[in-house]
Amino acid sequence: MLGPPGAGKGTQAERLARAIGIPHLSTGDMLRANVANETELGHQAQAFMEAGELVPDELVTAMVIDRLQQEDATCGYLLDGYPRNPAQAEALVDAFDDDVLELALLLDVDAEELIQRLVLRGREQGRADDTEEVIRYRLSVYEEQTAPLMDYYESRSKLARVQGLGSIPEVFGRLIEVLAA
Ligand code: AP5
Repeated sequence: MLGPPGAGKGTQAERLARAIGIPHLSTGDMLRANVANETELGHQAQAFMEAGELVPDELVTAMVIDRLQQEDATCGYLLDGYPRNPAQAEALVDAFDDDVLELALLLDVDAEELIQRLVLRGREQGRADDTEEVIRYRLSVYEEQTAPLMDYYESRSKLARVQGLGSIPEVFGRLIEVLAA
């Protein structure tokens, strides 16, 4: 699942994974759990996350490779938030093979809507990186580091773009249509 901060990756990935019967693996959720549990990885990741920076590739990649080798992922998985740059995409191929990811689903949402959604979540839930300043920085990190993945997957005929504006059920319906096709 690809898309800028606030595009609805987590919201939709959770529903899709449940509908398909595969695990939803969110690197953001995994990292936040490590921070909450005060693990060594959590200590290493926390400052990057609060600043809206990507956590160093080697830390996140090791965490993802370990997770993909667990039993419940042997029949498939929905990755949300990883890979986050072309180097992470390559690291996954190196660790497994070219078919490690079958399809990249890109949720398209304009920046104004993204900021509104995340500012609202920041007020309601208090996530540390949902302040307007950090949100804008996360969007710039996405443009610089993650957006190049669109070309990466498009050139491999693995990119499907889905309009992410509309209600949560509407977007879900579009994703299901793409998967069915
Ligand atoms: P991560 O948790 O992946 O954050 P993100 O990409 O910024 O994504 P968000 O969770 O903010 O948005 P989302 O697209 O999942 O949307 P959501 O469904 O939540 O990563 C956090 C940090 O961890 C990173 O900044 C980085 O530091 C680190 N990290 C994670 N992965 C990494 C990696 N691979 N490498 C390095 N570092 C990594 O929805 C957002 C809000 O919108 C919610 O309130 C939701 O209810 C609402 N909403 C959803 N859909 C709709 C809709 N259709 N209409 C209206 N509101 C909606």
